[in-house]
Amino acid sequence: IDLSIGIDIGGTKVAGGLVDVDGNVVARARRDTPHRSTRPKVVEDTIVDTVEELREAAGEAPVVAVGIGAAGFVAADRATVVFAPHLSWRHEPLRDALARRIDVPLFVDNDANAAAWAEWRFGAAEDESTVVMITLGTGIGGAILIEGEVIRGRYGIAGEFGHMQVVPAGHRCECGNRGCWEQYASGNALVREARTLVVAQSPMATDLIDRVSGDPANLTGPLVTEAAREGDQTSIELLADVGSWLGVGIANIAAAIDPGLFVIGGGVSAAGELLLGPARDTYRRQLTGRGYRPEARVVAARLGNEAGLIGAADLARREVVGS
Ligand code: BGC
Ligand code: NA
Ligand code: ZN
Repeated sequence: IDLSIGIDIGGTKVAGGLVDVDGNVVARARRDTPHRSTRPKVVEDTIVDTVEELREAAGEAPVVAVGIGAAGFVAADRATVVFAPHLSWRHEPLRDALARRIDVPLFVDNDANAAAWAEWRFGAAEDESTVVMITLGTGIGGAILIEGEVIRGRYGIAGEFGHMQVVPAGHRCECGNRGCWEQYASGNALVREARTLVVAQSPMATDLIDRVSGDPANLTGPLVTEAAREGDQTSIELLADVGSWLGVGIANIAAAIDPGLFVIGGGVSAAGELLLGPARDTYRRQLTGRGYRPEARVVAARLGNEAGLIGAADLARREVVGS
């Protein structure tokens, strides 16, 4: 059996997996993403490290390919990251740089494109002809998948939905613009809002303040989700706000793409219905032509937060062995 390695490089985590032909993750490896201010070389070292760990895990079994799902704008050559809002890559020849240090065929793709592919092959998007994938993590990733093909645009950069402007003169985005969708519906947005309440010592935030022992720096997305699950009303509302912004964005995307299905992945999607319920409500209220047109389903990624690494691995394997 052919094994391949998938590495998902997000704004906060590098998640690697050894993946079989059926999309099962048979070994895992994890690192923190080096900070944006570090040189690309440091990110490269982290990737090489993670790949080595997984090759050891494979033992005698051959690894036929390595796929990288990168949180950035990947050029049509599938080799260069032209820009990454949350990482130090600017016209970064990632594939060549890694190929010098990893002697297995290597392929680079956008992280959300990889996730969409995995959900179509092995997950929630099976049997759907027209799919939009949205990943909510540090930023918002997007992918358009039609008849099982990732639509890449003329230059490779289609589906960067996270940087659509949803609020004129809104929050400043890492990409440099203002009011980008990912400033309102991502994991970062969730943490920013929760932190604001904690910093202000808001009476609404007593539960959260307890959970972080008073230190706003300890606040994370998973922590807010956990608080919401355990009934903290403020955390439920924070997730509902993110969900509602998600609904606004996907209604806009429906106006442009008209998919049959939205698959929502990334770390924040672990909140499940606490996020998706409000997202569907707002989506239905915002959808143009509502009441007269079929509505796309909105579901959670079945492969959860591992979709990106599974898809990266499978895409790379197929480049080598064909199917
Ligand atoms: C980047 C995308 C990436 C997404 C999720 C966005 O800020 O522009 O390329 O897919 O974050 O990681
Ligand atoms: Na994409
Ligand atoms: Zn932006």
